[in-house]
Amino acid sequence: MIDRSDETRLSVLVVSHTGELGGAERALLRLIAASDGGFDIAVLTMAEGPFVTEARSAGIRVHVLAGGDAVRVTRAQAGSLAGVTTNALGALALARRLRRVIRAEAPDLVVANSLKAAMLVGLVMGRRRWVWHLHDRLASDYLATPVIGVLRLLARFGSRCIVANSRATAATVGRLPAGRVVVAYPGLELSAFERPKRSPGRGPVGIVGRVAPTKGQREFVAAASLVAPTHPKARFRIVGAALFDDAGYAEALHEQIERSRLGGRIQEAGWSASPASEFRSLRMLVHASPVPEPFGQVIVESMAVGTPVVATDAGGVREIVDPHGASVTIADGVRRAPHGLLVRPNDVAALAAAIMWMLDHRAEASTMAREAHSDASARFTIDHTWAIVA
Ligand code: GLC
Repeated sequence: MIDRSDETRLSVLVVSHTGELGGAERALLRLIAASDGGFDIAVLTMAEGPFVTEARSAGIRVHVLAGGDAVRVTRAQAGSLAGVTTNALGALALARRLRRVIRAEAPDLVVANSLKAAMLVGLVMGRRRWVWHLHDRLASDYLATPVIGVLRLLARFGSRCIVANSRATAATVGRLPAGRVVVAYPGLELSAFERPKRSPGRGPVGIVGRVAPTKGQREFVAAASLVAPTHPKARFRIVGAALFDDAGYAEALHEQIERSRLGGRIQEAGWSASPASEFRSLRMLVHASPVPEPFGQVIVESMAVGTPVVATDAGGVREIVDPHGASVTIADGVRRAPHGLLVRPNDVAALAAAIMWMLDHRAEASTMAREAHSDASARFTIDHTWAIVA
């Protein structure tokens, strides 16, 4: 681990637009913990929230600039005229305040940890003086086309270097000179890999994560409804709550569950303070994102505790579950990869087929989960991530 005295410690200011605790924020907290004091790292967010609370309780210095409307503009609005105007006016005001904090902190390095943060940091810092930690794919299945254009320009001319959370994410930034993009998979602390379970167990089939259309809880419920009649003992569990602007989706999900014939066999567990124990108690983890996932930390967290994985076949997920492209097709839209089953995105029948295969093939599921655990503990440690980033 890097050991520097206080005077020579490099100071870093990481900028994030959100105070919520999404995947990128959890990845950041792990990364800062792994730096083990080797750098003087402060965080700036544009809203209060659980991320700010966690960061402060981990002893991290946090500045909060109240971001107002510019922070609240959703991805869908970002391409509209109203969205652009709110964005532009709010962003200029925010940029002025951000500039003041950066002047006062005078960090050696500024890092943007979210798309909105990158736009603001780009405005304030200009060319090549900041690093972009990219957790999102710059692709049209996720962002409005004009926004992608702006972000690619920022990638090319703004930031000094991009740290992408997967090769799939890196492939969306457009062509950049060699060495300007590095891939650092978000890793887990070593303790996350201790005591993996030996067999998949009898727990529920679960989906864990923010409740949102991009995460696919509704596809999960639809697949559960197909699995339930032939697998009367199977139970299902949805862990997570809606953040940002997805309250409407959460309501629709709840109604879908009420209408389904799953009755007491499906549980809406809400937000969990200890996701590690959730992953451990599940019989299998289902990742159902209908749009390609940039990376997919929940998959690695499940692999770490020995829980078998069914995941949608796109984005960074493939690099986790099928690192060497060694899969076989076992049903329409379902591939069996070394570390889990990969399912055609947005295909409820394929998702149901994969869940049933896992339920029906206990021994194979166990072997897969054991191998997944040992691969994850080699490839996805936070020290590995830190070694690339530092
Ligand atoms: C974002 C991505 C997710 C990734 C995480 C950490 O939340 O959506 O796929 O795992 O960042 O990089």
